[in-house]
Amino acid sequence: MSATKGSPAPAQPPTGDDSNAADILLLEGIHAAAAATMSEFGLEATRRDGGLDPAALAPQLGRTRILGIRSKTRVTPPVLAAAPELLAIGCFCIGTNQVDVAEAGRRGIAVFNSPFSNTRSVAELTIAEIICLHRRLTDKSMSLHRSRWDKSAAHAHEVRGRTLGIVGYGHIGSQVSVLAEALGMRVVYHDIAAKLPLGNAQSMNDLHEVLAGADVVTIHVPETPSTRGLIGPAEIARMRPGAFLINNARGTVVDLDAVADAVRRGHLGGAASDVYPAEPATAQGDFTCPLTGLPNVILTPHIGGSTEEAQANIAREVAIKIARFIQHGTTTSAVNVPEVELPHRQPDQHRILHFHRNVPGVLSKMHGLLAENDVNINAEYLQSNAEVSYVILDVDPHHVEDVRAGLEAIPETIRVRTLR
Ligand code: NAI
Repeated sequence: MSATKGSPAPAQPPTGDDSNAADILLLEGIHAAAAATMSEFGLEATRRDGGLDPAALAPQLGRTRILGIRSKTRVTPPVLAAAPELLAIGCFCIGTNQVDVAEAGRRGIAVFNSPFSNTRSVAELTIAEIICLHRRLTDKSMSLHRSRWDKSAAHAHEVRGRTLGIVGYGHIGSQVSVLAEALGMRVVYHDIAAKLPLGNAQSMNDLHEVLAGADVVTIHVPETPSTRGLIGPAEIARMRPGAFLINNARGTVVDLDAVADAVRRGHLGGAASDVYPAEPATAQGDFTCPLTGLPNVILTPHIGGSTEEAQANIAREVAIKIARFIQHGTTTSAVNVPEVELPHRQPDQHRILHFHRNVPGVLSKMHGLLAENDVNINAEYLQSNAEVSYVILDVDPHHVEDVRAGLEAIPETIRVRTLR
């Protein structure tokens, strides 16, 4: 059981054990692998296809302990306030902007996501585009759809022996590097952080060296103030005549007007873009882009990470993180509460999980309470962020439920759970 200070009384008796909490709601058609993985941990989830807006979601969460969402469901402070039993939110996607993670953290609700499960999918799309641009494949295909038999080899190239420039050598950039070398490409890259070159890839001193030295440049940086407008007219001018530019990162990083202009002038031999400064929210939404209708330009609707495999990977990864939190208290890679990697519980031990406001004196109150109740502490773990501390105590199984009420009464307590 858990209790949150100031929230309505828990719906279940306070002597329960949270480790098999069953009230798990997965919205937005989360991949079936999530429920299947949870079930391997003895957790039964209810799946629903659609999302819910905050007003409709809040009344559904009175007894929900785990909420699974994707990118469309907004978890606002009123939604959190309506969910006194909520222990964790699983964002079965990359981003967590749809959740008020700070408010969730202040309530001792852990938020998990899956930042890297679609890395391979984006890397594969990029490799496909490198080859397509070199062979002008999409133009050839569209011509033939219009019954035009254009068999010319002009401007069609193998990628073997060509140079790929990678801007941002993180998870995706470095995967692209490995795959491109397997195709016989030479790889150069630039990253603001020192990154180990994989295979024969070469780190360049600056962005301009990469731009000037590559036949095809692919962007894999995050959206930050420093990457906004990273590739504009001046950077494109430094690229080799006839080179290709690929942006599968974020729409604000590349100036699409400058790309369109360079393609029209023939300075760029083509381009691929998966991301845009403004993207329609739905399939019916209007899409406008300076690149539409230009030759050898591949436009995709932000599908870099959209594969069945990526969705299944995301489902498994987030489900495992949630199960480990529910059953052991582990918060590793949570985005909003202190991260604690915990060993599995010993069968003869009880575990007390205690979130509290990070102010002086709380630990001594906890220790005093346990000592008064003759509860022996065998192991103690603590991590804090600016606002919240998370303490885990492995204790002998006597009188634990007696101290639980005392722990809940400590004014700084946010939430107490016990596992036995
Ligand atoms: P990551 O964090 O692993 O790597 C990003 C790299 O860029 C880091 O090594 C960082 O040091 C570097 N970097 C940051 N600022 C830089 C700068 N100004 N110049 C050079 N390097 C810089 O991120 P990951 O997972 O590789 O993702 C990269 C991008 O791909 C992100 O923006 C992400 O949003 C986007 N993405 C797009 C998807 C799609 O569907 N098209 C799906 C998944 C991610």
